[in-house]
Amino acid sequence: MSNFKILITSQKGGVGKSTVAANLAAFIRRLGKSVTLIDFDTHASSSNWLNRAPEIGVSVQHHVLPLEQGGRRPILDARLHLRRAADRTDVVICDLTWTDAIASELMLEFDLVIVPTSVSEIELSATAGFLNRHRWVFDSILLHTAPTLLMCPTRVQAEQLRSDVFSNQRFPVSFMLAPPVLEAQSARDMFERGYLIDLPDACGASFNEFGKAVMTAYDVRKATIAMREANKHTANLSSIVQKTLHNPATTKSITVSSQASILGRHRMQKMRADATSGKPNIPVQTTTSSLASMRIPQFFKRMSMGMSTK
Ligand SMILES: Nc1ncnc2c1ncn2[C@@H]1O[C@H](COP(=O)(O)OP(=O)(O)O)[C@@H](O)[C@H]1O
Ligand SMILES: [Mg+2]
Repeated sequence: MSNFKILITSQKGGVGKSTVAANLAAFIRRLGKSVTLIDFDTHASSSNWLNRAPEIGVSVQHHVLPLEQGGRRPILDARLHLRRAADRTDVVICDLTWTDAIASELMLEFDLVIVPTSVSEIELSATAGFLNRHRWVFDSILLHTAPTLLMCPTRVQAEQLRSDVFSNQRFPVSFMLAPPVLEAQSARDMFERGYLIDLPDACGASFNEFGKAVMTAYDVRKATIAMREANKHTANLSSIVQKTLHNPATTKSITVSSQASILGRHRMQKMRADATSGKPNIPVQTTTSSLASMRIPQFFKRMSMGMSTK
């Protein structure tokens, strides 16, 4: 698992996939890694963004998948482009509007599947439906290669930070929850001009927190897989799962793994507790420093702390 493959997808347009894809590429590039963005969308928004904004050193590709050919052609094409890019760069980010012509199996190619969703009821139920149709991909604990699912609340208004929508049992699969990317005019203004990571406002701060969470999700995944490998010959899978879920943290890798299980098993009680504790609303304009004191649920903070303490 030397290369990091990220899919950013949803079935709905307008949720912020391309914005997240282009700007996550910029975020990871700034960390010093080589990055390829593969834009699988006919609109070419994320590839145009990176091609026209000031050069940041991301390698950009645009491929339109032969969806009309049906069968396995679309996923074979996608897989070929993905594997070629992964041979050459540390990180590959794919921007893809999902359609029913694509087999869910394609998701197994990725380490991380990021599903941006707004937190409105209508979009959340569309997202739940989407995940339900592909749940087997994320469900199976026996599937060693199952991708990590990271839900990303996008285009979130300040007043929506109080909502506890992810605490409902509506999502049928295990997932990690990323810190929200805030809605802002400044984000729209950056299109083809610059990057959200450089915005000096709350939206920029939120995007940087999101970027850190993505890297933490990857670290958690690597640690979890390494631990499973290490235990392969000494214990059966069920005992590993038991240990992961119930043992108090003693070693570093166990710490990370138990965090994964806490984050991953949609135990959103913490978020629900925060959301109902009646802390005050966050003003629309929030500075970077006060973002840390926002009532972003504890596990959001924990995810982003994982990176900054390294
Ligand atoms: N965080 C944000 N704040 C404000 N506008 C946003 C944000 N993210 C995306 N948008 C806007 O929403 C629209 C759809 O975004 P886009 O990234 O193209 O979504 P998708 O790729 O899912 O269709 C665009 O006009 C974009 O500028
Ligand atoms: Mg798009």
